[in-house]
Amino acid sequence: MKQIIGGNWKMNGSGLAALEFLREMKRLGSGSVSTEIVLFPPFTILPLIADAAADAGIETGGQDIFWLEKGAFTGEISPSLLLDAGASWFLAGHSERRHVIGETDDIVRRKLQAGLSSGLRGILCVGELIEERDAGRTEEVVKRQVEYALRDLECVSNENFVIAYEPVWAIGTGLTATPDEAQRMHSLIREWVAGISGSDFADNTRIQYGGSVKPDNAAEILSMPSINGALVGGASLDAENFMDIVRAVPLQD
Ligand code: 13P
Repeated sequence: MKQIIGGNWKMNGSGLAALEFLREMKRLGSGSVSTEIVLFPPFTILPLIADAAADAGIETGGQDIFWLEKGAFTGEISPSLLLDAGASWFLAGHSERRHVIGETDDIVRRKLQAGLSSGLRGILCVGELIEERDAGRTEEVVKRQVEYALRDLECVSNENFVIAYEPVWAIGTGLTATPDEAQRMHSLIREWVAGISGSDFADNTRIQYGGSVKPDNAAEILSMPSINGALVGGASLDAENFMDIVRAVPLQD
């Protein structure tokens, strides 16, 4: 299956920096790879880069989404506003939304459902906190996040739905799960997806790894059989680093 590399800029960058980044990505050959590349800049940058991203062979997405279409929801961005801004993807449940803003499993699920129903493609982010890992609760926490989001989810397919496993302790810390640890969690996530949506769906679900993915560790991580891409934060801010990660995707047969 085609790997998918996401660049999550979080609250960084600018319109000018994004245009320069895309020019550089194009120069480095982003359009010539078979890997799917999606950039998640801050909302305000999305409409500015729609044409340049398409020209570089890169899709764009919102880092978050709201679950209703319109109304008195100050500061929120609806699925149709994202589509209007040129986005084709969204993230739901990023750990910074869950743990800094306080989003619950229920909110994440509503966001995922609204985005998929609108025709956008979504990445469901899951992952455990260091305290949960230290308490031996990693599997319980990630299983709950996956199952809560997926149960009775409508309009979901292998084309429009991706999971990102991002252990929270590995995000922005320089720490990563070892490739074997990540592979083990990805296999478990696939089993949990199979339990809800069937093994055919699970076998074809792309599961990205995220958390301090860098050019020097990407090849090892991306070569694990249950890892189908990466969601990259810090290293996606620089086009050369990001392209090095894209190029680390093993050749498909
Ligand atoms: P870092 O790559 O900076 O650790 O961030 C990962 C992440 O949160 C991507 O969504």
